[in-house]
Amino acid sequence: VPVVTVVVAAGSGSRLGARLPKALVELDSVALVRRAVDALLDGGVSEVVVTVPVGHEEAFREALAGTGSRLVHGGATRQESVRLGLAALAAPDDAVVLVHDAARALVPPEVVQRVTSAIVDGADVAVPVLPVVDSIRSVVGGGSEVVDRAMLRAVQTPQGARLGLLREAHEWLRRDGVEVTDDAAACEYRGHRVALVPGHRDAMKITEPVDLVFASALLAERKN
Ligand code: C5P
Repeated sequence: VPVVTVVVAAGSGSRLGARLPKALVELDSVALVRRAVDALLDGGVSEVVVTVPVGHEEAFREALAGTGSRLVHGGATRQESVRLGLAALAAPDDAVVLVHDAARALVPPEVVQRVTSAIVDGADVAVPVLPVVDSIRSVVGGGSEVVDRAMLRAVQTPQGARLGLLREAHEWLRRDGVEVTDDAAACEYRGHRVALVPGHRDAMKITEPVDLVFASALLAERKN
């Protein structure tokens, strides 16, 4: 079956403090969105739709030249951007679709393959996760209480499902006016079960300026 992807890149990147949309910020002279799309192509993806912010189409087209990606405008929220991206994919309902944050620009292709394999092997939804290293407290009322971190996982992207299933899940969220933070939660809303596969440190989300410093160090390490 074809493996296709929506790369969400329509965020403003205000927390990164750049004047450009975050996905266009460069790491070692290559835009984050380009690094993300290349990683997905290396991981076996055959059709790429990228959601982009209004007004930056030309810069995205340049950054993605030669990748065969199709650009569509994103929405007001990440969830809306995913829905619009899914609508633009031409693949059949049983295609495997991966939704990926452009901000996770250094995702290793083996993570892409792990998520894909989980869906091909029968999972409804699959997400890459990492153990949580910090001690965690939940704040309730005026106080707080410790949460057993052994039970917790941090969730990364790409998140995978069959295209028909994920489109349907997003349609239901829209109809019901429900907001979720990722695609696994979107599918769970419809009762689908989420499978976990090992994520990777390098699939970190580049959010704040210091994350770019860390990402540069990861790149330098790869070259050695
Ligand atoms: O803001 P945050 O880092 O959580 O966004 C996650 C991803 O979703 C980013 O890659 C961002 O570009 C994308 N996004 C989007 N449309 C929005 C908001 C965020 O495509 N309206």
